[in-house]
Amino acid sequence: MKIEQEIAVRTEQINALLERYLPKEEGFQKTVLEAMNYSVRAGGKRLRPMLMQETFRLFQGTTEAVEAFMAAIELIHTYSLVHDDLPAMDNDEYRRGKKTTHAVYGEAMGILAGDALLNYAFETASTAFEREPDNPAIGRAFGILAAKSGVYGMVGGQAADVEAGEAGDITMTGELLDFIYRLKTGALLEASMTIGAVLAGASQKQQEVIEQIAAKVGMAFQIQDDILDVTGTQEVLGKPIGSDEKNHKVTFVTLKGIENSQNEVQRLSEEAIELLLGLGGETDFLQRLIQYLIHREK
Ligand code: IPE
Ligand code: IPE
Ligand code: MG
Ligand code: MG
Ligand code: MG
Repeated sequence: MKIEQEIAVRTEQINALLERYLPKEEGFQKTVLEAMNYSVRAGGKRLRPMLMQETFRLFQGTTEAVEAFMAAIELIHTYSLVHDDLPAMDNDEYRRGKKTTHAVYGEAMGILAGDALLNYAFETASTAFEREPDNPAIGRAFGILAAKSGVYGMVGGQAADVEAGEAGDITMTGELLDFIYRLKTGALLEASMTIGAVLAGASQKQQEVIEQIAAKVGMAFQIQDDILDVTGTQEVLGKPIGSDEKNHKVTFVTLKGIENSQNEVQRLSEEAIELLLGLGGETDFLQRLIQYLIHREK
């Protein structure tokens, strides 16, 4: 099967899985529940649950607990996008080909839908404890999810990103940019793959290699996102282009130029594949997925 087709099949399977976990739109908080579901159902590549599942398979995982974590990581990622698009942050009107959550439901409801998605993600992941109270990997996975989403992970990266945008390009250094990308984008990809490995019972050493792979994929992914913010189209991307320029963001592209950025995406992805090959096992889909991401147009 062609990689595009294979990704499409898996995306559909993940969408079906997510549907099973989405909350019912009822009660006096119905509007915020609608806003949550609107954000998740708007679509997206479902890359994080896909990476989690495939890493889990690589280490021959068997526990069904992985499903709750696949849903949880996508809920957290979606919340991060809802808040990233808010007027106080990137102030963007389109996401995943639809109006952003705050544009449809208002700013207050956008903030609350993000908050609710974050908590709901942990409610969802915690169902794994009930299913398998004696499985210690679930506690580890839960801790990774919390840490990589928080101030030492995605939120920390977003905060540094906001501050750097406000300060303009004078204060930007390669070191700071690296920190921002590693956290705002890399952290959730690291969580995705590492949780897959942990739940499958991978060794400590294997978990560490997986985290390194995810960090490289995450860095490449954000640089490609910056490239597409300049070279893409809204129709294909499903989100506005030029958002970084509008927000005075210094990105890898503004710092190093398009060509160097493309080379960096290629280099990081090849390094990730190298590490993956070193692990042995059935890595074919992951390799092709990483290759595919280098040239992605959305
Ligand atoms: C967008 O993530 C935000 C970044 C970390 C660059 P994705 O490109 O994975 O967004 P969706 O989930 O496909 O919409
Ligand atoms: C955001 O980076 C990463 C997140 C943690 C949401 P961007 O601000 O570049 O993401 P897009 O381009 O809006 O998806
Ligand atoms: Mg942003
Ligand atoms: Mg943004
Ligand atoms: Mg972007």
